[in-house]
Amino acid sequence: MSANLNRVHATFEGEAIEAEAGASVAAALIASDRVAWRTTRDGAQRGLFCGIGVCFDCLVEIDGESGQRACMIPLQEGMRVCDNGTRATRTAVDADTEEAAQ
Ligand code: FES
Repeated sequence: MSANLNRVHATFEGEAIEAEAGASVAAALIASDRVAWRTTRDGAQRGLFCGIGVCFDCLVEIDGESGQRACMIPLQEGMRVCDNGTRATRTAVDADTEEAAQ
């Protein structure tokens, strides 16, 4: 059996993301090198924080339904994930660059 049979494919803002079957949407976003995927009204970037459904920092829109906790929802084949109306996708490279500048 091929390992690819256990992979689930979806999109985030139209870009391909994937994860092992059973992994959360947040896991797929982290695996695609994103560390933040929304912005608060104050402009603060948010992504995965608690990872257990408590903090609501990881909110995304999934298949048109906003306010979904990315850490609590398993990635499903063909899922369309969006940034919950904000545009703050931040990659690990961005984070490293910002950290180095401080
Ligand atoms: S990371 Fe805290 S609720 Fe998802």
